[in-house]
Amino acid sequence: MAERYGNIVGWGKYVPDRVVTNADFEKRLDTSDEWIVARTGIRERRHASEGEVTSQMSTAAAREALGIAGLRPSDLDLIIVATSTPDYLTPPVSSQIQHLLGAGHVGAFTLVTGCTGFVYALATAQQFIASGSVTNALVIGVEIISRFVDWEDRATCILFGDGAGAVVVQATDEPCGVLSFDLGSDGSGAEHLILPAGGAAIPVTHEALVKKQQYLRMNGNEVFKFATRVLGKSLRQAIAKAGLTADDIDLIVPHQANVRIIESAARQAKLPMEKVFVNIHKYGNTSAASIPIALCEALEEGRARVGDTLAFVSFGAGLTWATAIVKLAERKQPVSRRKRWFSFLGWFIRDSSSLRSSE
Ligand code: UT7
Repeated sequence: MAERYGNIVGWGKYVPDRVVTNADFEKRLDTSDEWIVARTGIRERRHASEGEVTSQMSTAAAREALGIAGLRPSDLDLIIVATSTPDYLTPPVSSQIQHLLGAGHVGAFTLVTGCTGFVYALATAQQFIASGSVTNALVIGVEIISRFVDWEDRATCILFGDGAGAVVVQATDEPCGVLSFDLGSDGSGAEHLILPAGGAAIPVTHEALVKKQQYLRMNGNEVFKFATRVLGKSLRQAIAKAGLTADDIDLIVPHQANVRIIESAARQAKLPMEKVFVNIHKYGNTSAASIPIALCEALEEGRARVGDTLAFVSFGAGLTWATAIVKLAERKQPVSRRKRWFSFLGWFIRDSSSLRSSE
């Protein structure tokens, strides 16, 4: 069987309208615009308004991606949603999105690996496409973290923002899409980035609420050290696995967590900052949504173009890391549809020649 690759043929994003600036935090916390910009690179972020939910934001981003791909929801064979902040713990938000999109009864699942979720989901979609079982996959990264942060914890609440990004991955026989990936996890660092209550370990009881265990807790220094330790190495490994060198990478689209972490990863991979896309100043850290949102903006601004080789590099809760080297290729007719047409052509030629010989 010919090899099948997953080309990114559509992309879309949704960010809430509500802009929260550093000045807004200055009004209610002991913090400053100067500290936030210097330590993180963030100037503002978007927060979901009351009533806005993960499934709706995802659907908006997905519709935009399907529009660019020129596909209908019914053309999808698979939906993978990466999020740590679904509408509910159960049912899975992926099924709600499938329903809202009107994507037929297509397979849909939610994948939870924190901020690395989108890269894990993209690598997973690629496997389904390579196996021949899927032609069009929708991959979404989405978060509403503003509902899970403690507004009195200045070390975490200033960092995060809400948003959604989506891509359509389509089967093709041209080598493109995810050329290689490097996925990893180290659960020994679980407590450094954790939302303690709401799972089976600590149900949401009055006591848990009094202890504020329903909010995200982070040991920023430890996460920072972890990120600078793993990112450069993961990036170098993924580039090597793809049979490429750093010079072959046109643009790094990193997880937007902290501009200092991004600079460190680029330095370690020997890539100049001109080859790195940064939009953290506008959106803060949107966790699993940050890479697909950044990808959309890089394409919109012409920083990424069809034909480019990109590196998606991320780290987050788990602790986890994930890098993918992705080539954006010109869109062709999906491989399975072309195959169907060729088999029809083969049947037609065979059939008409047997008709002629029987005449
Ligand atoms: O997607 C993965 C999610 N997590 C991350 O990416 C987090 C990675 N870590 C970080 O980005 C950084 O560790 C932070 C931005 C969270 C913190 O920056 P830092 O340079 O590591 O600061 P620090 O934690 O060492 O704190 C330095 C000081 C402390 O004061 P003292 O103890 O020196 O008096 C903090 O209390 O800064 C203080 N501080 C703040 N000051 C003003 C912490 N948060 C703030 C704040 N405003 N918002």
